[in-house]
Amino acid sequence: MKITLIRGDGIGPEITAAMEKVVGALGIDLEFEEINAGLSVFEEEGVYILQRLFDSINKNKIAIKGPITTPIGHGFRSINVELRKKFDLFANIRPIKVPGPLELKFDGVDMVIFRENTEDLYAGIEEKISSDEAHSIKVITREKSQRIIEKAFEYARKNARNKVSIITKANIMKLSDGLFLEVGREVSKKFPDIEFEELLVDNTAMQMVMNPGRFDVLVTENLYGDILSDLGAGLVGGLGLMPGVNKGKDIAIYESIHGSAPDIAGKNLANPIAMLLTLCLLLDDINEKEKAEKIRSAIYKTLADKKNYTRDLGGENTTTGITDAIISNLGN
Ligand code: NAI
Repeated sequence: MKITLIRGDGIGPEITAAMEKVVGALGIDLEFEEINAGLSVFEEEGVYILQRLFDSINKNKIAIKGPITTPIGHGFRSINVELRKKFDLFANIRPIKVPGPLELKFDGVDMVIFRENTEDLYAGIEEKISSDEAHSIKVITREKSQRIIEKAFEYARKNARNKVSIITKANIMKLSDGLFLEVGREVSKKFPDIEFEELLVDNTAMQMVMNPGRFDVLVTENLYGDILSDLGAGLVGGLGLMPGVNKGKDIAIYESIHGSAPDIAGKNLANPIAMLLTLCLLLDDINEKEKAEKIRSAIYKTLADKKNYTRDLGGENTTTGITDAIISNLGN
């Protein structure tokens, strides 16, 4: 199967190389069509995203990408946002689960956050009223709320999850968040087999820290989802361990949730596990679940030995070192 590969900026080339090495070691039938985007492309070709990248994603329907540095002061607001908008990737899905026997404050964290990816305060409608006043408009529509909430419920049903929690601040933003919640209540009636829970975002943040095991599937708007998923990453060992995917109707771009980490780029220090778990999400979706489980179990075994830990986990291992350890734990 051919998929588009975007290596990205910063640590992107290092973690995508780790991912390719694991694909090679397992003999997974994936052919990468490599087209880059971001700063390196801008320096050579004067644009951040090439038309042939759009064409490749349109054709292959699946892409996997490393992080891309957001240019400050010129170009797009964010290349990532641009890609999501171009392909209408409305669902940002982030599973939050401990990938190994790490010494963490909490056990049993296993939740999936569905974040609406296209509207809310990220719609980019801002207005400078004067040098002392600026406005951002929050956009919530019935259609876009409905498709993300349905996606969360469908996922819950398909994956034998029991509960969907809808997260808003509808007590204050009665019209915008009120609409999102109203749609949630309507959609939940179509899924009587799944428990439906309404929570406010501030309470959710506290409960995620006090009692994260109570959560199952969460569905929320763009800004709350962005913040809560980083909070979730903190619960399970940090950004270096968190996979993700952006999905539209028939196109998906798989990417871990961290950025290009310029502070450690090019130093062989990045943790490749987030990228490898992102690959697992892709394999789950293309009926290669067995291979995905092999990688997950190799990661679990690797994290059982602290000498494998990279710096973000408190160890001294390198990107290539931990990748080789994971490969040696693949057991084939
Ligand atoms: P960041 O996620 O790149 O880094 C935050 C901290 O986490 C840094 O200390 C970094 O070293 C560490 N970190 C991140 N990933 C790691 C990994 N795999 N292994 C070990 N440590 C890791 O966030 P930051 O610094 O806010 O953003 C840097 C750039 O990345 C910005 O230009 C931002 O716009 C972009 N970005 C891109 C994303 C994407 O392409 N999807 C997502 C988030 C940010």
